[in-house]
Formats: sequence, structure tokens, C-alpha cells
Amino acid sequence: MSQNQFDKKSQAWSALFSEPMSDLVKRYTSSVFFDKRMWQADITGSLAHADMLAAQGIINAADHEAIKSGMATIWSEIESGTFEWKLDLEDVHLNIEARLTQLAGDAGKRLHTGRSRNDQVATDVRLWLRSELDLIGALLVDLQKSLVDIAEHNVDAILPGFTHLQVAQPVSFGHHMLAYVEMFSRDAERFAEVRRRTNRLPLGSAALAGTSYPLDRERVARTLGMVDAAGNPQVCQNSLDAVSDRDFAIEFTAAASLCMVHISRMSEEFILWMSQNFGFIKIADRFTTGSSIMPQKKNPDVPELARGKTGRVVGHLMGLITLMKGQPLAYNKDNQEDKEPLFDTVDTLKDTLRIFSEMVGGQVNPATGQKEGGITINPAPMEAAALKGYATATDLADYLVKKGLPFRDAHETVAHAVKAAQSHACDLSELPLAVLQGFHASIDKDVYACLSLRGSLNARNTLGGTAPAQVKAQVARHRARLG
Ligand code: ARG
Repeated sequence: MSQNQFDKKSQAWSALFSEPMSDLVKRYTSSVFFDKRMWQADITGSLAHADMLAAQGIINAADHEAIKSGMATIWSEIESGTFEWKLDLEDVHLNIEARLTQLAGDAGKRLHTGRSRNDQVATDVRLWLRSELDLIGALLVDLQKSLVDIAEHNVDAILPGFTHLQVAQPVSFGHHMLAYVEMFSRDAERFAEVRRRTNRLPLGSAALAGTSYPLDRERVARTLGMVDAAGNPQVCQNSLDAVSDRDFAIEFTAAASLCMVHISRMSEEFILWMSQNFGFIKIADRFTTGSSIMPQKKNPDVPELARGKTGRVVGHLMGLITLMKGQPLAYNKDNQEDKEPLFDTVDTLKDTLRIFSEMVGGQVNPATGQKEGGITINPAPMEAAALKGYATATDLADYLVKKGLPFRDAHETVAHAVKAAQSHACDLSELPLAVLQGFHASIDKDVYACLSLRGSLNARNTLGGTAPAQVKAQVARHRARLG
């Protein structure tokens, strides 16, 4: 092809160029095959912009109508899969605009008045992320409810509580589940905060400096629902910042990383608990796989993959934050690289939240209206494991403190008692009273009440403690909060 023969019209940016882009550069620089998923946000943003251009008298009513009907056609074409996405047109924005111009003629070309792809893409990413944040918020509520259900049914099941993965003190299984509910409720708070800062309008910043047209940015913000709780429009206040920063995407990915870390910790516990050596819980077969060589195996693939996918999301956080580092103001093409990590973070998080709600809480059986198929708890091995580790040693120390011993001395005395129990291969509660009295004369037969797992649990009746009464109160609080 000679230098002047290429079709300059197929490129959005003027007649300035004297040679076409090579196929490799086209493929390298285009984003349409991943950013097309923002098409709804792109059309919604464009319609809000067109509405404002018309209200301000920048385009006339006929052009506004032509844009609206062209966009309605495009919407249904994309929805039905007949829209032809073109790599040559680089990204979602240029693809939609080119089709609009085919359908609406000059009106389509007027849509970009007072706008640049720089403020357009920043707006689209925010709109897209905002709707995803709403879905994520709902999924987090579902997961918390599943955990609260399991907690409520297992308030009285006794689990060895660990520190350093050594048996420490007995805890209620419900209490343990509610620890994760606390984590996920903080995740939900973080996502709500991120949503507040994401829900601000870059449009009207144009390429970087603002625009010479009399735009009404607050009107666009209102049209797009970019308003605060009191209904005030939320508009990015500096054009350079508005087109260039992606901190909302970075903080989203940071919040998503933390949420995945919480899921990963829970996964790790499920994996341990369902191993033969623990046998504390079972998860439904549909969340496990067999082995191609060992016929007896049921592998916890879903929690293992969730643990693995946490690394992937944390990796996206590193990718995004590094992408921003060193970018001068304002927009740079580097920012096109924000999308794949962001999209993959959203996909991974949503799938993981969904699968965990179902794995923990089960699915509603339409015949009964009841949830079925969640995790099954085996209280007997859990309780046996708690008995193995002298989990009530602290209770014996507390008993001695109540009899007047300083805590440090009581701690020392109990260490001797544990040693004796170990040498008899029995639990503290199985030592005869005479043996226990050998460690301290103040020990009486009422000691056995506090040496039992249940006695130990009931004793921890302070706010946030593991006593069943406390756990039940927390279940009630979460139910009221989650609705
Ligand atoms: N596809 C681009 C992105 O994702 C859109 C903005 C391009 N702007 C520009 N001036 N090249 O960031």
C-alpha cells in the first residue's frame, strides 16, 4: 500500500498520519476485546452527556433524538449479539461511536462535543465498577447470612480453639463462624466506602483541561445517579486528576484482596477440618473432586482454588498500583491496562463469594423452600480434639486465682498438673481429686465443673466471648443488621 492509500476514515484521529498502523500495533494498542464489557456504561454515559448538550443548546433537539434512537438500536444489537465489534476501532468507545454515526449521521459525530475519550473512559470504568460493587455488596450479605445460620445451629458445638495451631481453649463452633462474619462485615464497609469515592463524575473534564463549551456537569452527575446520600451531585473537581487517577480501582482491588484473604483463611480451615486427621466438617460432594489414581479421595478443590485465587487478586492489586506509579499528569495510555486486572478481580471475587455462600449455607430446595447441602458439622471429633489438648488448663489456673493465688503462680502450678496428666495419658478432668490436691491444697471437688469443656465455654461470658449466651446475642445482632 502506498503511503497515501490507506483508509484514513477508519481511524478516529484525523488525516495527520501518513502511514497505517501495522496489525501488530493495532492488536497491541486495542482494548475492544476486553473493554467491550463496559458497553452499557458507555451508552448510559453518552446518553447523559447528549441530554446535557441538548439542555444547554449545544446540540439541537433533532440531533438529540437521533442520538437516542441510534443508541437504542446499538443497545439491542449488542444485547442480541449482532453488533460487530472491530479491532480496527480500538476500543468500546470508538466502536459504539462509529456505529452511532452510521445510524444517526452527523448527529452521531456531534455526540463527542465537549468530551474526550479520556473523561469518557474514566466515567465508564466508574459506572461499571459502581454496578459491580452493588452486586458484590449483595453477595457479601448472602455469605454472611449463610455463616450466621451455621453459627446459630452450632452455638453449642465445641471446637478446640487454636493459637499457633496448638489446642488453646475450647470455643463454640458458632463463635468461630461469627469471627468470619465480622471480617466480611468490615469488607462490606470497605466496599461501601470505595463505592462512595467511585461514584463521582469525570465527564466534562474533556482531554485534561476542561472544555470551552458551557457544559452542566452537575446535571450529568444527577442523570447518572452520581449523587451523595443527600442527593447532591458528585463531580470530580479537577480535570487533570479526573482523567488520570485510577485510585478508586486500586482501592477497590485492595478491598477485594482483603476480602479474598478472609476467604482464603476460611478455606484453609475448611481444608484442615475436612481432612481425615480432623474430621470436623464435611462439605457437599459437588464442591469436591476425586482423584484419577486414588479411588478413596475426595479433594476440597473449591476451598483450595479459592485460596489459590487469592494470590491472583493480590497480584492484580500489585499490577494496578504499579501501573499508576510514575505516570505524569494527566491521561496516559498506560491506564488502558487498568481494565483486565480490575475485571478479573471482580469476576474472581463474585464467583468466589457465590460459591462460598452455597458451599457453607447450601441451596434452597424449591420443593421444601429450605436450604440444603451446606457444610455438615461433626461435633464428636471436634469435642474429642478439644479434650486432647488440655484446653481447660487456663480454667484451672483461673480457679486457683479465685482461691487467692497470684495468676503467675497459678499458671506454674497448672503446668505441673498438665505434666502429670500427660504422663498418665489422661485429661486434667480425669485426674483424681487427691492428685489435683497434691498440686495445691485449695483445690476442691468443685474444680471438676470448671475443668469440663462446657464449663470453660460458659465461663467466658464477657462481651465478644465464646459463652453460648454471648454467641446467641451476636447471632441476633447480625440478623438485625443483615435483615
Ligand atoms: N481505550 C482507552 C483506555 O482504555 C480509552 C482512552 C484513550 N484515550 C486516548 N487519548 N488514547 O484508556
